[in-house]
Amino acid sequence: MCGIIGYTGDGYAPEILIQGLKKLEYRGYDSAGIAVSRAGETVICKKRGKVEELEKKVQSVDFSDSHCGIGHTRWATHGEPSDVNSHPHSGGRRVTIVHNGIIENYLELKEELASKGLYPVSQTDTEIGAMLIESMYDGDPLSAIYGAISKMRGSFALGIIFSDRPGTIYAVRRDSPLIIGVGEGENFIASDIPAILPYTKSYYLADEDEAAVITKDSVRFFAKDGQELKKELLTATWDEQSAQKGGYKHFMLKEIYEQPAVISATVGAYKNGTELFESCSFDFDIKGKIYIVACGSAMHAALLGKFAIEKLARIPVSVEIASEFRYDNPILGSDDVVIAISQSGETADTLAAVRLAKSAGVRTLGIVNVWGSTLSREADDVIYTYAGPEICVATTKAYLCQAAVLEMIALKLAGSKLSEEEYTKQVSSLDKLPEYIEKALESDSICRALAQKNLEAEHQFYIGRGQDYCVCTEASLKLKEISYVHSESYAAGELKHGTISLVVDGTPVIAVMTERARIAKTVSNIKEVASRGAAVICVTYDDVDVSDFCKDKIIIEAPSELLAPIIANVPLQLYAYHIADGRGNDVDKPRNLAKSVTVE
Ligand code: F6R
Repeated sequence: MCGIIGYTGDGYAPEILIQGLKKLEYRGYDSAGIAVSRAGETVICKKRGKVEELEKKVQSVDFSDSHCGIGHTRWATHGEPSDVNSHPHSGGRRVTIVHNGIIENYLELKEELASKGLYPVSQTDTEIGAMLIESMYDGDPLSAIYGAISKMRGSFALGIIFSDRPGTIYAVRRDSPLIIGVGEGENFIASDIPAILPYTKSYYLADEDEAAVITKDSVRFFAKDGQELKKELLTATWDEQSAQKGGYKHFMLKEIYEQPAVISATVGAYKNGTELFESCSFDFDIKGKIYIVACGSAMHAALLGKFAIEKLARIPVSVEIASEFRYDNPILGSDDVVIAISQSGETADTLAAVRLAKSAGVRTLGIVNVWGSTLSREADDVIYTYAGPEICVATTKAYLCQAAVLEMIALKLAGSKLSEEEYTKQVSSLDKLPEYIEKALESDSICRALAQKNLEAEHQFYIGRGQDYCVCTEASLKLKEISYVHSESYAAGELKHGTISLVVDGTPVIAVMTERARIAKTVSNIKEVASRGAAVICVTYDDVDVSDFCKDKIIIEAPSELLAPIIANVPLQLYAYHIADGRGNDVDKPRNLAKSVTVE
């Protein structure tokens, strides 16, 4: 949460910083701000609201001769969204910082500063950080930074400018992401790769407690003992185009339509004929239990994984909400494996769960989309999803890739437990996924029409059994987070144990039926709600006749029953999208949310 950017070069810093912030806005959009350092002075401009508000305000500020600066887009934690709580924050006279993360002991540090007669003007933890650096600054920026961070607890990626060091940006991180982009005669800092892609694909990753000193011609790294470090220059595999809207009204729609391609890339990376995960260092010989830890949609993908692994490989799987798992004192055995799933690879709770598992001596596997992210560096082994940059705050393509990887893991683990014929059939059906997702995308017009019909509904329910219940959990989250419509997902047989009392005349109930063995049971549950006036939409195969209890049907075709949940998700993403868009919402940036949740 929160995005930071920094630029030093010959270009016009305010414009470059604002364009970078637009790329990082998915990380938070409560307020935005920039600060530039010019000979002997720092000019700050910040504003509550989205980056476009800041962009307007910047026009009225004299930013002439501004070639070095830092910027921030905020997801508020400490202090309400307001101009004064917006970053950058000044430490007093010479130090100005932007910060992603949380300084957990800021109250303690605030008291310490107060005892020296130093008081903040905002309610933020960040200003305390800025003041702390300032209070330790005697002309040596690195020693002030290291002095300050040795007192800070929590997580931070800091971009820092000193008014007496124009043209230089200092950066340091602990538990929050930070990259240093390397251009020609210009250099950058950023929370994430898309912000630097218009200028360069070359970047360094900063490690824990390492500080970087960046001028337009050089990037140097230092350890806390002052020793200069040699770092490996990396090349981003994402291109700039993949981080642009490309003619679509929203990133979400573009990302939904990218799914055939990204699923093809993800499956292709780990499938060679009938061999799965040949190139992966993870040892699939699992003697104990599997824990899958994740948050939000990634946790919903985990539910599908559990279903498939237990069904095919008969290995017990426990899906754990990462924020619970980390405090549960889980019973972990040395033969167990913890699989952590995360698009960003930066979700604080998921990382904490992995650290807990590692400290218990348990093997960890990360399923992650962002190269170089903390999870990709900390998990013992990594399987990447090839979703590319996902800009819309609500996940679609990254979730689908996670689901595909988990279905593949289920097949890999099942191995010889399936007959050769069955195994080959199942594995071969993976190749057909992109083509069937394309077909599912053709249901866009029916999804839009159904969305139009249910545009005003304030409550919607999703029901399904087994793997279809897993689909419902994600479909329901997608609807509520972008449309602000209350929605719940229910195992179809469970609805009548209380929640059915919420179903009244016209309540939309979406029933997913891809698992043939359970369709008859779900049909009974559909009839229960239909007889109470529910407006039912069935998502199922063409040959499943629902005409006597349901008028609206979204037909799906799948390469196999195992992969059908992946297909069924696609029209439900479109349905949620059209409801949110139809209600006039900012689909890519839903209120109160941020994409990368780096706080607990
Ligand atoms: C919902 C959504 C979130 C994320 C969750 C975990 O659309 O995107 O629920 O799935 O915040 O994020 P990652 O996968 O980055 O760990």
